[in-house]
Amino acid sequence: MTDPLLKVEGLSVRFGTEGGTVHAVSDVDLSVWSGEIVAIVGESGSGKTVTAMSILRLLPKTATVTCDTLSFRGEDLRAMSARQLRSVRGGPVGVIFQDPMTALNPVMTVGDQIAEAVVLHQSTRDKRAARARAVDLLRLVGVPDAEQRVRQYPHEFSGGMRQRAMIAMAIANDPDLIIADEPTTALDVTIQAQVLAPLKKAQAETGAATILITHDLGVVAEMADRVVVMYAGRIAETAGVRELFARPRHPYTMGLLASLPRMDTDVDQLEPIPGNPPNLADPPAGCPFHPRCPIARDRCRTDRPPLVPVAKDHYSACHFHEELAGVDAQTLYGQRPAGNEVTA
Ligand SMILES: Nc1ncnc2c1ncn2[C@@H]1O[C@H](COP(=O)(O)OP(=O)(O)OP(=O)(O)O)[C@@H](O)[C@H]1O
Ligand code: SF4
Ligand SMILES: [Mg+2]
Repeated sequence: MTDPLLKVEGLSVRFGTEGGTVHAVSDVDLSVWSGEIVAIVGESGSGKTVTAMSILRLLPKTATVTCDTLSFRGEDLRAMSARQLRSVRGGPVGVIFQDPMTALNPVMTVGDQIAEAVVLHQSTRDKRAARARAVDLLRLVGVPDAEQRVRQYPHEFSGGMRQRAMIAMAIANDPDLIIADEPTTALDVTIQAQVLAPLKKAQAETGAATILITHDLGVVAEMADRVVVMYAGRIAETAGVRELFARPRHPYTMGLLASLPRMDTDVDQLEPIPGNPPNLADPPAGCPFHPRCPIARDRCRTDRPPLVPVAKDHYSACHFHEELAGVDAQTLYGQRPAGNEVTA
């Protein structure tokens, strides 16, 4: 197999806060190969954004980051100066932030911001060519009347249009990797589809690998090749998208799947997993999921389960993953008898 485009091994991130040390991310490995879409999924606070932002060292100074490997195209990102990192961001790595309003400059037109990104990262100083490229990019991501919209400011764009502008900026310099942090979360369902379609198109056009952060399994099923499920700052399970949906081997993943609406029932909104994610300033001993797990036993309260292979390219961090083979997610959560499998 070829080397991964991005290789992260043993990533841990701690934040010093008044309430104690927050164990935001622990022992995360994440490799991404050229052209693939890897989804990171998990509830709020599970460490998705912190994982992604630590790749380009975009975390606040209160973060302590440790890792064994952090390389992009074979280069060690930890050895790069702030200036070198800036040339990676917006160049070979395009970032779509969770909140576009904080990422876009409110006093600069959308077109000028995209053009500036083009000029900054390419040898061209030709501002006219850069502006023309901004119009092309806005058109590519489905902004109507791009020639006019290019002269507008971010506040004149709707939420969905701002996300499209962020996608345009992220792909402006033909990136090898796109990091998209919850590009659709703040948007209503119809607008979500209108943002995902251009993201898909942008990904296909550039051939860029993509890290797609979301808490929406519907988005995962539609977009991703591979899935990383995070819980309490750790990887609970990871597999190819079809394998994960058809044969989940971690109770947390199964809980997420059990709360998905299904076609074979009138119930369209099921209960999510009972309980709340743990406080990461005081994470539970053993398996972090044990306070909410329907099959937790004594061992789970003391021994942390390692992430181990359970099938080809499929890993689970559950002591009892073998028992879960063939078990229906709804049955595990006592919702209803086994029926049709949810398939990707
Ligand atoms: N600057 C910070 N200082 C202290 N704790 C932080 C900071 N940033 C994040 N955290 C904590 O780190 C943990 C992981 O946060 P992160 O933002 O990665 O979650 P997330 O999975 O992206 O959640 P969401 O779905 O809400 O975006 C959380 O417990 C969060 O409170
Ligand atoms: S290790 Fe135990 S608590 Fe954790 S997911 Fe598996 S069964 Fe549940
Ligand atoms: Mg986040």
